[in-house]
Amino acid sequence: MRIEAAVLRTSDGPFVIEPVEIAEPGAGQIRVRITGVGFCHTDVLPRDKSFLAQPPIVAGHEGAGVVESLGPGVTEPEVGAHVLLSFAHCAACENCLDGHPAYCRTFFQRNLTGTGLAAGQPVTDAGGEPVASRWFGQSSFATHAVVDVTNTVVVDQDLPLELLAPLGCGIQTGAGSILLALGVRAGSSVVVFGAGGVGLAAVMAARVAGAATIVAVDLHENRLGLARELGATHVLLGSDDHIPRQLRKITGGGAHYALDTTGAPEVISGGVESLRTTGTIGLVGAQTRDLVLGPTALAAGKNVMGILEGDAVPRRFLPQLIQLWRQGRFPFDRLVRTYPLSEINAAERDAAGGVTIKPVLLPGS
Ligand SMILES: NC(=O)c1ccc[n+]([C@@H]2O[C@H](COP(=O)([O-])OP(=O)(O)OC[C@H]3O[C@@H](n4cnc5c(N)ncnc54)[C@H](O)[C@@H]3O)[C@@H](O)[C@H]2O)c1
Ligand SMILES: [Zn+2]
Ligand SMILES: [Zn+2]
Repeated sequence: MRIEAAVLRTSDGPFVIEPVEIAEPGAGQIRVRITGVGFCHTDVLPRDKSFLAQPPIVAGHEGAGVVESLGPGVTEPEVGAHVLLSFAHCAACENCLDGHPAYCRTFFQRNLTGTGLAAGQPVTDAGGEPVASRWFGQSSFATHAVVDVTNTVVVDQDLPLELLAPLGCGIQTGAGSILLALGVRAGSSVVVFGAGGVGLAAVMAARVAGAATIVAVDLHENRLGLARELGATHVLLGSDDHIPRQLRKITGGGAHYALDTTGAPEVISGGVESLRTTGTIGLVGAQTRDLVLGPTALAAGKNVMGILEGDAVPRRFLPQLIQLWRQGRFPFDRLVRTYPLSEINAAERDAAGGVTIKPVLLPGS
């Protein structure tokens, strides 16, 4: 079938809107007409020449849409169902069966190579050449995507589908890191480094968890202003001097929990310094440089925890976030700004420049 997709052709070039062919869904797959897809910082990682996935690629991994056709043997979700698309996993390995699908044995191959596990790609370009199109088992920067059934979460038809798209990765990661992976407790102190889509979801979740002190640290004043509105009790500019000292003061001796969404090693080591004895820092930001910690940095029972996708089970966790949103307790829609898919390069620029927190691309418009 002929569809339109935003193809990243080269590591330093723009996304190019192209007509491409998409194959029929195979066993265990469905075709989804994409109505909205969030732009996550992870979607630009294929620009890094040392990253697993490389151009030409159709990125996009926070899709939302309507089920259009089912592969052989697939009975659910039904044609016409509204679905959110999350990360791919095997649903059969030890960690998947234990309820930790983000730590699936095949997570990296299924989600981050761009080409997935099976030979061949669903998308071919006008010249008949394959384009990497198994990014997070969906490649949803397109009007349509062939998706693994295990990626899908069915949602009620009365919900604004496009708006919910970012729940599939960034929002789930921030909220899950706080509520599931770190298990933030009522009355505790939490520091969130980076107030982008992931960090602000973490701030909102920390409020849901009843944390007494919630500190957001970022380089953009406007993001810190929003962090305050969403639940931060304190905000700090990342460019200020002596951040760990200020954080220890605000939290009365060090934070119980911290979450790094910046990926910057110096922010993370400062985050470790800002923890109290036995405190834990979760790491979700994509790191491109080595993290170096001093010989006694962790001595006082401090913990460093790598986290993927908030350690969430999307079919369990996304409905919970939607319920909190319906109650007005998790207003993630305040992070979203919509763009037609054809404006994807502007969306990337606005996200990188701090102007837009969570772009959502609308392939239909
Ligand atoms: N582990 C996972 O499962 C997972 C899932 C989604 C996203 N991610 C990663 O999480 C990270 C955050 O994603 P996002 O969409 O929120 O990105 P984003 O770019 O919107 O947010 C990052 C924020 O960090 C701030 N920042 C950068 N350097 C800083 C510093 N030195 N001090 C303070 N703040 C600083 C930036 O100003 C920005 O607001 C990305 O690296 C992304 O790839 C990981
Ligand atoms: Zn698995
Ligand atoms: Zn993501």
